[in-house]
Amino acid sequence: MLKSIKGKISAMYSDLGCAIARWKHKKNLPVLEERDRQILKTLKREGVYATTLAELGLSSSLNMLKSAYEQLSKIEPDKNDPLYEMWPQIHTVTEIPEIYAWATEKRLLNLIENYIGLPVTFHGVHLRQDFPSDHQFGTLLWHSDAEDRRIIKIFVSLKDVEEKSGPFQYIPRSLTSLFKWQYYWLYYKLWQSRYMGIDDEIVKQVIPKSAWKSCTGPVGTVVFADTKNTLHHGTVRQEERVTLFFCYTANPPERPELCTQYWDDTFPRLTLNSTSETAQALGNRG
Ligand SMILES: [Fe+2]
Repeated sequence: MLKSIKGKISAMYSDLGCAIARWKHKKNLPVLEERDRQILKTLKREGVYATTLAELGLSSSLNMLKSAYEQLSKIEPDKNDPLYEMWPQIHTVTEIPEIYAWATEKRLLNLIENYIGLPVTFHGVHLRQDFPSDHQFGTLLWHSDAEDRRIIKIFVSLKDVEEKSGPFQYIPRSLTSLFKWQYYWLYYKLWQSRYMGIDDEIVKQVIPKSAWKSCTGPVGTVVFADTKNTLHHGTVRQEERVTLFFCYTANPPERPELCTQYWDDTFPRLTLNSTSETAQALGNRG
């Protein structure tokens, strides 16, 4: 009990320290172009901003996309029979130069720094394949991520995302602000689930389904999301979804141990070396 109280007090101190650091850093925030100010405004209000690579207009997008497809083509199709609960297949692609170059475009970093309010760090990229299922489990349950106090994840879809492919879905922050009782009710339910996530039936009790937002769209749809402060999940899908997940937090983040998965060996890493080795191996086989 005493340990838990001590932990709470220390967390409050650290949150306060972070708020002061954000206030001090305000004068150092990079200036944004008008189009990025609009993205920032929506992100602050709703927690999510959806667009497309074309609309975003970054010059490195085409190379990044080409490179992502090259990597995707090297992943062996999953040969397992569909299981009751098939967990996503994740590969780390942080070291692929074209993908890294896109992720660290100055415009993106400046936008994210303005949102987070502190110097930021880019942790890495997952190429993620999510498979069909008929019920909610894992990240299909509503949850919030835990890497930091504010997180930006960017999802870039490598396949069209329709309702049947299980889009990213979220509750706009305007509906769950600190001034609304729904916020406390939902986070109490999350706490009760030991932060493993809550299902649609629970969420429906306080936020009508009609208010949930789904990020559907064609290949190249880009979603910016603060996955810490926005309740979200992937919806149950009948078709595979293929997405790049980019992760950014303040530097340093609150929970650095949760961020290593974007560059370490938690998931198989695809690198240029592994690519040429695979190509060579395939050539030898042929
Ligand atoms: Fe998440």
